[in-house]
Amino acid sequence: MTPHAPHDTVLYNDWHPVASAGTIGAGAIVRAQLLDLPLALWRDSGGQAHAWEDRCPHRGTRLSLGTQQGDTLRCAYHGWRFGLSGRCKHIPALPELAEANLKAQVATFAVQERYGLLWACLGTPSGAVPPFPEFSDARLRKVLCGPYDVQAAGPRIVENFLDMAHFAFVHEGILGEQERAAIASYTVEQFDDDLYGKGVRAIQCRAWQPQASKEAAAGSDVEYTYRVVRPLSAILTKLPADANGLPSDAIGLHVQPLTETTSRVWITLALNDFTSSDDELRHFQDTIFLQDLPIVESQQPQRMPLTPGAEVSVACDRMSLAYRSYLKAQDLRYGVIR
Ligand code: FES
Ligand code: CO
Repeated sequence: MTPHAPHDTVLYNDWHPVASAGTIGAGAIVRAQLLDLPLALWRDSGGQAHAWEDRCPHRGTRLSLGTQQGDTLRCAYHGWRFGLSGRCKHIPALPELAEANLKAQVATFAVQERYGLLWACLGTPSGAVPPFPEFSDARLRKVLCGPYDVQAAGPRIVENFLDMAHFAFVHEGILGEQERAAIASYTVEQFDDDLYGKGVRAIQCRAWQPQASKEAAAGSDVEYTYRVVRPLSAILTKLPADANGLPSDAIGLHVQPLTETTSRVWITLALNDFTSSDDELRHFQDTIFLQDLPIVESQQPQRMPLTPGAEVSVACDRMSLAYRSYLKAQDLRYGVIR
């Protein structure tokens, strides 16, 4: 069912994170939002997660105010109960009505659990959940960070994730320093492979970082690859520090678009750091992200302009320009100015 006309068919038919899978416990009805639409998330008695529109079809009350009863949700207002398909099964004020005559239907959406996140698609899924292949590598440590609520459009947040030239200023002393602010040349190209699917990437992105990761004891030269795998999902991988065969760190950034200009950001880590605690690893990401926050929230216009010449770009903005071209080619409309 389509509860409202899609603003953006690309995002409407794509998968987006809507919650940490672990927060949807038995009996809980968790509120979320995706592309302006309020959602109610819950698990049935078999543990299967559900994403429903958070709105009772009777009088528009939030279903998340209601209660779970077995494999049904009961609305808080008049007690109507809805079964797994979202179809009304019982109206307490008219108990004699046969179920076959109950027409009320809650809008329900496709869900999947991946990388510790619950993903939902409001339309018809155009493909799989965005790839994050490092998550399946048993040799890497997995940690979920966030969510971070940001008063900014999703594309602005992804573009910031792809940007190295701000390290020396926004993350000074950690990911960069002002005396070494120059960005060496790197290569931008399209890719299409089995592991990461299709998208645009920047390779051979080199930088000197005072503290490249939680574990780093001293400054080091790093080499990154950035991949944009979906309009609102990107993956950063670091080259291995040594040749012991261990894959190096990967950081996935996944934006949950709440509205065109507000977002909830999830970060998935797959690291070869087995020393730090989960809390320490999260704290490191929190520190970095909170440094970015006032910057991306201040950017005007809030929707990212895809029109050439709307903002001044220089040579080291190649990846950002490639991302904008990618969004244009995807025909993205939500959170951008075309
Ligand atoms: Fe939900 Fe009436 S509004 S039962
Ligand atoms: Co940053």
